[in-house]
Amino acid sequence: MRRIQTFSVMILLVSLILIFLYSSLHLESTYGHRAGLEDLPRQHSLKVHDSDVKIQPPTQEASTTRQSQLNASISNNLRQTIPLNGAYWNRLLYLALRNVEKGENLARRDSSWSHCRETNQELLQTNMHDFTTYPVLFQTFLQGMKCRSPPVLIDQPNCNNKTFLLLAVKSTPGNFEQRQAVRETWGRGGMYPGGLRVRLVFVLGSSPLEDPDLTPLLAFEAKHYGDLLQWDFRESLLNLTLKMNVLLQWARKSCAHASFIFSGDDDVFVNTPALLRYLQSLEASKASRLYVGHVISSATPLRDPKSKYFIPLSFYDGPYPAYAGGGGFLISGELLQPLHSVLRIVPFFPIDDVYIAMCFKALGVSPEAHAGFQTFDVKEQDRENLCVHKDHLLIHRRSPRQMKKLWKGIHSPLLTC
Ligand SMILES: *[C@@H]1O[C@H](CO)[C@@H](O)[C@H](O)[C@H]1NC(C)=O
Ligand SMILES: *[C@@H]1O[C@H](CO)[C@@H](O)[C@H](O)[C@H]1NC(C)=O
Ligand SMILES: *[C@@H]1O[C@H](CO)[C@@H](O)[C@H](O)[C@H]1NC(C)=O
Repeated sequence: MRRIQTFSVMILLVSLILIFLYSSLHLESTYGHRAGLEDLPRQHSLKVHDSDVKIQPPTQEASTTRQSQLNASISNNLRQTIPLNGAYWNRLLYLALRNVEKGENLARRDSSWSHCRETNQELLQTNMHDFTTYPVLFQTFLQGMKCRSPPVLIDQPNCNNKTFLLLAVKSTPGNFEQRQAVRETWGRGGMYPGGLRVRLVFVLGSSPLEDPDLTPLLAFEAKHYGDLLQWDFRESLLNLTLKMNVLLQWARKSCAHASFIFSGDDDVFVNTPALLRYLQSLEASKASRLYVGHVISSATPLRDPKSKYFIPLSFYDGPYPAYAGGGGFLISGELLQPLHSVLRIVPFFPIDDVYIAMCFKALGVSPEAHAGFQTFDVKEQDRENLCVHKDHLLIHRRSPRQMKKLWKGIHSPLLTC
């Protein structure tokens, strides 16, 4: 009897020790490197809907060796770049990585927009203790951040399969004057010297319902110029990542043969002939993995709630990877397909150029700095200097009128630089 008692007590003790060891190990692996740093709640794991954590068994056709090798390097690259800690986005990313490593089929996630589930307030409050103090727009972003495929309002036929450069310009419905200036200057599509084919598209969301309805005008513009793409999502600073996502998906689907893609704003001045010369001069190895622009290195999130680019600590905690400023950058067409896989893994981040850099980082591609890209503009005294504009590839920002004047100026046969 006594022996049985001692035996049970020992079993109990051993189990307790094991439980203790297991839980401390778990805690350590999750929070080890940030212990005692922040006053964030120490949730063990992300609280999510059931459907988010359901793991699909790997499908046979998807589990080719190449695919899983790609997946493995994607996770390694991201794990090295972004720390795991208590912040919501960081935990979402690691959850996605775990699911990818288990072979989840992400195609399943591209569910239709109309059935797209907005993340509910309660869940967001549980995961970000100060969620209710976030700016309203940021809260709105968080509710919709899983919605990725808005309905197409205006589409365009596929690019010619000999397209060398796709100019994808982010615009908004009301910016007709900017678009017209781009069309009349650096965005002119067609054939350039050397037989290089250029295609121009503008990428738009929809105006808020409170604004005047521009639908009939946009329909006319689209028909007349054949260069408008529009999706049904609300134009907003925090929807720029969504815009970048639909733009890259469109390019992959409808302009798959383009050698290069330029993504930029409608208020930048681009020296297209110089851009084409630069692209033509690239070595093949570089041309196939290009991600070049004005590079911002060692940036960290802005924590001032009044800032346009405010990122709350309980949402994202970590540095930003080096990124090419969203005013305008170039990527290789060959990267569109691998990017497509990564876009589905990396949760939406509210700043589009940082988001894209995270996706490139996942592919092991770092942005390359090029002094020709001036997304913070050139020196004050050079802003009307034609030779300076002739020497650069991109300058942010110029009004439609300045754009026309500069374009005419740099092409004048009388200009000597
Ligand atoms: C790799 O990731 C893709 C999505 O990016 C997924 O469809 C596929 O099932 C994954 N394959 C393996 C073997 O993990
Ligand atoms: C490009 O398009 C032309 C005509 O539509 C077609 O004949 C040709 O095979 C295509 N080339 C490639 C590489 O797809
Ligand atoms: C982004 O667009 C969607 C669809 O129109 C909208 O529901 C959402 O509120 C927008 N997000 C922001 C941050 O404005």
